[in-house]
Parts: sequence; C-alpha cells; structure tokens
Amino acid sequence: MTQDITTSPGKLRSRAWFDDPSNADMTALYLERYMNFGISLDELQSGRPIIGIAQTGSDLSPCNRHHLVLAERIREGIREAGGIAIEFPVHPIQETGKRPTAGLDRNLAYLGLVETLYGYPIDGVVLTTGCDKTTPACLMAAATVNIPAISLSVGPMLNGWHKGERTGSGTIVWKARELLAAGEIDYQGFIKLVASSAPSTGFCNTMGTASTMNSLAEALGMSLPGSAAIPAPYRDRQESAYRTGLQIVEMVHADRKPSDVLTRAAFLNAIRVNSAIGGSTNAPIHLNAIARHIGVELDLDDWQAHGRDVPLLVNLQPAGEYLGEDYYRAGGVPAVVAELMRQGLILEDALTVNGRSIGDNCRDVAIEDEKVIRRFDAPLKDAAGFSVLRGNLFDSAIMKLSVISPEFRARYLSDPADPDAFEGPVVVFDGPEDYHHRIDDPATGIDETTLLIMRGAGPIGYPGAAEVVNMRPPVQLIQKGVGALPCIGDGRQSGTSGSPSILNASPEAAAGGGLALLQTGDRVRIDLRKGTANMLISDEELAERRKALEAAGGFAFPASQTPWQEMQRAVVGQAESGAVLEPAVKYQKLAQT
Ligand code: FES
Ligand code: MG
Repeated sequence: MTQDITTSPGKLRSRAWFDDPSNADMTALYLERYMNFGISLDELQSGRPIIGIAQTGSDLSPCNRHHLVLAERIREGIREAGGIAIEFPVHPIQETGKRPTAGLDRNLAYLGLVETLYGYPIDGVVLTTGCDKTTPACLMAAATVNIPAISLSVGPMLNGWHKGERTGSGTIVWKARELLAAGEIDYQGFIKLVASSAPSTGFCNTMGTASTMNSLAEALGMSLPGSAAIPAPYRDRQESAYRTGLQIVEMVHADRKPSDVLTRAAFLNAIRVNSAIGGSTNAPIHLNAIARHIGVELDLDDWQAHGRDVPLLVNLQPAGEYLGEDYYRAGGVPAVVAELMRQGLILEDALTVNGRSIGDNCRDVAIEDEKVIRRFDAPLKDAAGFSVLRGNLFDSAIMKLSVISPEFRARYLSDPADPDAFEGPVVVFDGPEDYHHRIDDPATGIDETTLLIMRGAGPIGYPGAAEVVNMRPPVQLIQKGVGALPCIGDGRQSGTSGSPSILNASPEAAAGGGLALLQTGDRVRIDLRKGTANMLISDEELAERRKALEAAGGFAFPASQTPWQEMQRAVVGQAESGAVLEPAVKYQKLAQT
C-alpha cells in the first residue's frame, strides 16, 4: 500500500511519517531513528513543521561553503518561529571545480533534491543557493515538488583588488589571459592576478551567472527582498539567514508554495531585471528550465519581446566597472526593481515569499549610488537584453547586447550602409580540446576577418554544455591588437565573460543542427536587426552535406566518461528549452498529486 505523503489543507505532510495512529509500525520506525540524535518524541509529534535546509555548501563547493555557517542562523530562525530544522546535503556543484563541466550537475542535483523533498518528512525547505547552477537546480526541484520553499543566497565575495583597481571574478581571467599571451606577465604573475579577485568566502563578485541567478531568484519572488546581493561575509548576511528561517515557517502555515510565486508575471519581471543588471547568457537556459518544471509557458521569444529593449542600469563587471559590494551598497535588486517600476516595467502584483507583492516590497526603495545603479534615463547602455538569432545555422541562439564593446562595434558593425550586420569566413573547432590544440597554430589560418565557430559543445555533444564559446584570438592577433573575434557556438559561455558571442545554439551540432554542416572557409552572415544568422551556402549544397553527414553516422562526439553522462545525453533537451531532463517535465506539483 502506498502511503499518503501529499499535503492537504491544514495538515502537515510530515504527520504522515511521525503521527499516524493508523500505521503504528511505520510511525514507530520513523520516529525512533529521527529521535536517535536528540530530537525528542514531543517535538516530532508536536505538530511543528519540519523544515529542510537543503545544504549546497561543502569543502568541495567553496562558493557555497559559507552556507555551513549561515545554516546556524537559519536554524535559529526556524526554531524561533516554532519549526524544527533538518539539514541535509545537496549534490555539490562547483562551477570552477567540476570536470568536464558543472553544467552536467545541475540536472543531477535537481533529480536528487526532488527525491529528497518528495520522499522525506519535509513540510517546507530553505534552499541554500549561490554558485551558478546551485540556484537553478534548487529552484527547479522546489518547482517540481511544490512544497513551501524559500531561497537564501550565500552572497558574493568581497571586491577583489590589484594595484588599486577592482579585480572581478572570471572577468580578470580573460584579461590576465591576454596579458600572459602578450608576454606582459608570467605564469606566477598570472596566478597572483587571478587570485586577487577572490579575497573572501562567497561566490563570484562580478555579474556572472551566480549574481545573476540569485538576483533573478529575488526578482521572481523566491527570496527575501534585498537579500540576493548582500556580500557573504557581511553581518547583514547572517541576519538575512535568520529572517529566512523565520519566514519559511510562516510560509508553511500559510501554505504559500512555489506555484503561488512562480507565475508568468514573475518570470516576465525576472527577464526585465536580467537586462537591467546585465545578466548572464545562462539565465535564459535556467529560467526556462524553472518555468518548465512549474508549468509556466516561457520561451526565447519572451526574452526578446520583454527583455531586449530594457536598458543596462547596473554598472558591474563584465558589462561595467564595479563589483558585488558596490551593487549591494547601491541598493541591490530592490533598487533596480523600483527603478523599473517607475517605468511601468514590473508586474507589481506578483506575489513573493514574504506574502507581499513585489510592488509593495520595492516601491519606495531608492538608489543609493547612481554611479553603480544608473537611473533609467541615464543608462549604461540602451537595449541591453538578448537578441535572438535564427537561420540555417540553428533554430535559435542568443547574443548579449550589453557586452558589445565600442571596439567590436567599430570593427564589425560600422558599415554605414549596413550597420547591424557583419559577415566573414569561418574557422570551425570541434569541441574545446580541438580549439586549445589549434588556436595558436598559424596553419589554422585565422585573421582579423575570421568568425570563430565552436561546435560539439552543447548539452549532448559535450554533456551538460561547456562554457567555451568565448574563444580568445590567436596570440599573433592579440599581439597585433585584435583582442576579440566574433564567436558562434552551441556551447555556453561564462556569465563573467564580456565577449559578445552568439551562443546556446539550438539544435546543437550533435542533435543535427546546421552547425554540423559548416566547414572551415564557408562564409557566415549575422544580421542583428533582422535577427538572422546564416551560412551563405545554397540549399542544394546543404542538402548534399546533410546526406553525407547522415551516411557517416551523424555528427561525431566523444564517448561518455561516466554513467550519468550517458544517461543525461539520452534524455536531455536543447539549450533553448532549458536543457532539462525531458522525461522529468511531466512530473509537476508532486506534493499535491
Ligand atoms: Fe561559483 Fe562563480 S564559480 S559563483
Ligand atoms: Mg559559469
């Protein structure tokens, strides 16, 4: 007989484990083992909510490790509000530590957390978020299970400094790479410069994927207002952990669930906030994934329609100059939301975890430093969202408009007759290893007119999709002053990169996308106004090439190295639809069904 572990109004789901007179045998078994470390029978049968703390921090996950400390304050909040805290681990995802790519682990952590939240006596959960994929993994799982859930960002590191200048996570790596390639620093100098960007506990201090996703979790209404941007070591971060603990108990009593918060209005708000903060190109993948697991319609057209024309307000690296501490002092997410609200760009009625609407939370918040968070009428850039491109290269790919530099514009987008388009011959790399092998080899034939192509790097080709599309030019070109070439690919790119690449191409080469048909020497044309990306090759020629590709058994990619790589490859979807485990999507609102 399957037991009833679903919720019904006024009844905590943990009662099915700990207080079910009709099933005394099992109840006794559940009780005795949760009592064995000190929780008393009285507590477990008191009708207090059991609150999970989904712990993503560990020694393997330095970005989130401070959650081990914050959990103490979360517990105090839970206890103070009358709940019982039960902390448990989430599969680690450290962006900078996992080979071949942390992208592989988002869906694995998601799966594990779904099982945990569904199968154990948990009435509500605090999701400890931070490093890139930890935030979407947790939100996706909370969406699927749909028990009351609140996210707590671990917060960014303090600002990095080197010789009086801010050094930002990731962003400094791209710069240091160029200095090393140009011979201006040596190996030791390279390591020292990069390490200067990581002065404390916390996640990337730039507007990379971590700051982006935690800002968007707040914009979605899933974390307390003002909490996303607090730097990890600040005392305010401890207080926010305590308040998060208090809040989740209230949420359980109010039965306020992810499906009440994660509405289409919330996602549209998040898309607009993403443009205003200069958010990561990984955001559409993750937000679309969360939307699919909660059952909200959302696709790339929404990003173009609602996000493209929103200006860049937050002056953080890589699109701007400041870092995480500055963002927090300037007002963080509430100041950005309030500024967008004054333009009518926020759907103000969207509910948030504290039971108030986002409008009520943010309406009166002021910008504290207009150098760091600009006013809407004095933005860093106009139209700072993503442009969605389509054509015979792929059904969709995105380009982050906020990082197109003046140099890039001068080189590629300055033809007065055709200011929104560029074209050139391509050099094609099959995966990151091929690129690393050949990029500096003069025989590869790259010059300043070349467009660099990275394929075989999507969710199937390079399981999980590697962050490799932003490729540096060959050393010879850097030494001539060419710091960037246009890059196009089916992989992802680090949110800390300032490269205006065309990425997340779907379908990827490994799924039969047009990129698989491209050959070095072909010409490709990009038109940002029309939103097109095409190989300048006849349909007949493309049909020939496709026939030859199919005869050869399709696009070749490396064998799986682990069981999970093989399993995920068999069921993962494409970047444009969130790169989710497709069979998982039909499992929705598990705690209610
Ligand atoms: Fe973890 Fe950037 S590597 S947040
Ligand atoms: Mg990343």
